[in-house]
Amino acid sequence: MIKRISIDQLQPGMVVQSFVGDWPAETFHFFGKTVPDRQSITELTDVGIRELYVHVHADEGEPDLPTQEDVERLLEGQLRELGGETDPHAPPDADWQERLGHELEEAVKIEKAVREEANRTLESVRMGGQVDLPTVISASRRSMESIFRDHEALTAIALLKNRSDQAFEHSVNVAIHLQAFGRLMGWSEEEVVDIGVAGMLHDLGMAKVPFHIVRKTGRLTRGELQLCHQHVEFTLQILESVPNLSEKAWLVAAQHHERFDGTGYPKSQTGRETSIEGEIAAIIDTFDAMTSWRPYHKPLDNYLALRRMMEFSNYQYNMGLFQFFVTCVGLFPVGTVVHLKDSSRAVVVSNHRNALLFPVVRLLTDATGKAVEEGRWINLSQHQDEEGLAIVGAESETAKGPVNPFKYLPNAKSFRMPASA
Ligand SMILES: [Fe+2]
Repeated sequence: MIKRISIDQLQPGMVVQSFVGDWPAETFHFFGKTVPDRQSITELTDVGIRELYVHVHADEGEPDLPTQEDVERLLEGQLRELGGETDPHAPPDADWQERLGHELEEAVKIEKAVREEANRTLESVRMGGQVDLPTVISASRRSMESIFRDHEALTAIALLKNRSDQAFEHSVNVAIHLQAFGRLMGWSEEEVVDIGVAGMLHDLGMAKVPFHIVRKTGRLTRGELQLCHQHVEFTLQILESVPNLSEKAWLVAAQHHERFDGTGYPKSQTGRETSIEGEIAAIIDTFDAMTSWRPYHKPLDNYLALRRMMEFSNYQYNMGLFQFFVTCVGLFPVGTVVHLKDSSRAVVVSNHRNALLFPVVRLLTDATGKAVEEGRWINLSQHQDEEGLAIVGAESETAKGPVNPFKYLPNAKSFRMPASA
């Protein structure tokens, strides 16, 4: 049985299953094995770990400690409460389908162009070249325009990506989420362009970290981990020589690994010391990393990543900004396969900011379990009183199997899936 304990309840002899937070668990030599001594516990305390999951026998330990399942249920409830805080009676957006369908066609091309630009920039830096800021700005301007027309189109592409571990793809996804966040915060077009540039450039220093370390699948040594962390300094060195760079780009690069409680790097700054741009980037950077392949982990589904992040958001991130991020991507992000109370299954295709518990879905199977071809669109916000159409849960990626969410989006026949997705 797996239970969650606080760090001061950890004893030598216990077996650690995982940590609460975005800690590189595999870097601790005893991870997955018995904790050998008190010194090992001090190591965990020193880096700021507060809670963790351990294996215990059913008859062992405090009976009141929550099991992993208890915590999952609790987090699910907390996430839903976030959705409940918005206005469930907001009128549904009448022309969402036409607008989103049209924008998806554009967004697929724009995302490809931005991805190519991000790749070119990273390769140039890798070869010792410079950042060509005007071309990065012009790519960011195109994606800003798309996000101002309909923020869901590019966001959907970032959410339904192929989850590769390529650094430039990560930069593009972060840029898109940052821009959507800025747009929904009410930032100006120029500010949204700047934050897009920030996303595209924020990890350039990874090009200076030796490839064998970036790609290493096994446990990183302390020295290797430090070198990885140095990518922030490398990025800042590269950005120093870029004329006319916006302050946002600098802040995002410098602070996206800082944490609200001061447990991040490189400066261990707390939430009081970092900028709002740095705090937003910390949330988005973690979300994209959790939902992508890394040499040391498989991607989590978007819905599951939000639930996991909820667990440590109140100390590692600015909780208010995390809530806002959930508003941006949806409580059930586009592509999530949900179960309705009447036993039908459906895929989420659009979210209303003001009614996160009631997205627009498209049926996959009906209440009898029969597959539905060209399933109908159901705008759940218009059926809030129908108990049978309430969402009761979301399916994990593995259970979802071969469902390709792109196919269910409006106007899907008019655009090809992005090449990498
Ligand atoms: Fe980074």
